[in-house]
Amino acid sequence: MTNDAPVFAPAMSPKEGAEAATALFREVFEAEPDGVWYAPGRVNIIGEHTDYNGGLALPIALPHRAHLALRRRDDRTVRLVSPQTREKVDVTSLDTIGPKGTPGEVAHWAAYIAGVAWALERDGFEDLPGFDAALVSCVPLGGGLSSSAALECSAAVAIDEVAGLGLAGTPEEPDDAGRARLVTNCVRTENEMAGAPTGGMDQSASLRCREGHALELDCRDGSVAHVPFDLAAEDLALLVIDTKAKHSLDDGQYGARRAACERAAQILGVELLADIAIEDLPQALERLSSTDDADELIKRTRHVVTEIDRTRRLVDLLQDGRPLRGEKLAEAGRLMDASHESLRVDYECTCPELDVAVEAARAAGAHGARMTGGGFGGSAIALVDAKTVHDVAAAVAQAYEREGFNPPAFLDAVPAAPAGRLP
Ligand code: GLA
Repeated sequence: MTNDAPVFAPAMSPKEGAEAATALFREVFEAEPDGVWYAPGRVNIIGEHTDYNGGLALPIALPHRAHLALRRRDDRTVRLVSPQTREKVDVTSLDTIGPKGTPGEVAHWAAYIAGVAWALERDGFEDLPGFDAALVSCVPLGGGLSSSAALECSAAVAIDEVAGLGLAGTPEEPDDAGRARLVTNCVRTENEMAGAPTGGMDQSASLRCREGHALELDCRDGSVAHVPFDLAAEDLALLVIDTKAKHSLDDGQYGARRAACERAAQILGVELLADIAIEDLPQALERLSSTDDADELIKRTRHVVTEIDRTRRLVDLLQDGRPLRGEKLAEAGRLMDASHESLRVDYECTCPELDVAVEAARAAGAHGARMTGGGFGGSAIALVDAKTVHDVAAAVAQAYEREGFNPPAFLDAVPAAPAGRLP
């Protein structure tokens, strides 16, 4: 057993983020940025692998953010730097960049930033200016906490302002319709420039969440509602466990799940699996049972339809105005647990590190626990009594040591503000 205290990944304060990004910008570009913009990572409370099926999701924005110090240029050049690439500034041009797999392909993380300008130009905002930008992010990389969406969304709000597009509004007075349009462009960036066939949950969370609230996101029509989620007021906390198990959204597994859902929807004669009501699930599964890949299609469909139902039930529960205690808290925990089971057994997108994290957290007293995000690695969340956060984290760390896994990292997830400009 280890006696080491579990490691919590701290969020930079807005001031620290702004200062770090500005200092890097000055050092590398020898000029003052026009401003510093930021965008948060996210965790999803429930509603996993529902977004590209037109269903419901319930994410919160994290206090962990990408900070982008940016200065508009008079030409079409884009120069990008981060602490990791300090020695080698990425240089590209808006005149030549293009999607992954084409001659204009942009390497690595630069695709997520320069790519947003590319997408906005295809959306009708022509001849955007180039820019110099320095990125400092404290969203754990590859932890399934939407580090890439945070990059896209920080670029989106920065370009929106320096190019005068007028879409985002401010975090205090956001223009939600404008932000929804930015979401579409960030998703296009992820899909085409980075080649990851994801839905829109991550970018919606980063741009459209509210502090102290979870975002009820209906991916059928893009509508949102803000669900009160002030856990601290209930003496609760949401512990995020970054398993450190490798996770990637463009390695084929995620795309294979999405393709299976599309195949099932086609066989069932609906546009998206969200069109199957929970009452009609037995007949739908019966219909799928005569197909060649019945086992796969039945499992994927059962997960998606039941997960949308669980999400609706948790949203209703959180909105009923009663304190999150007693039987209500137990029911919220059961819904989270059931979500994980469905992702493990039917969607087959968990991994030993995720399953052990969830089991250890529950055994240490969590009210509910589940993987969050795309899965196959990444992070899990546990709903715990605030005073037990460190004990639950320590129990998970010990379970990892017993299993011989790499040590996990932890975050305390407090629902934070959406993307915007730092003062
Ligand atoms: C990843 C994707 C999202 C969503 C989740 C699963 O985070 O980026 O679009 O599909 O997986 O819910």
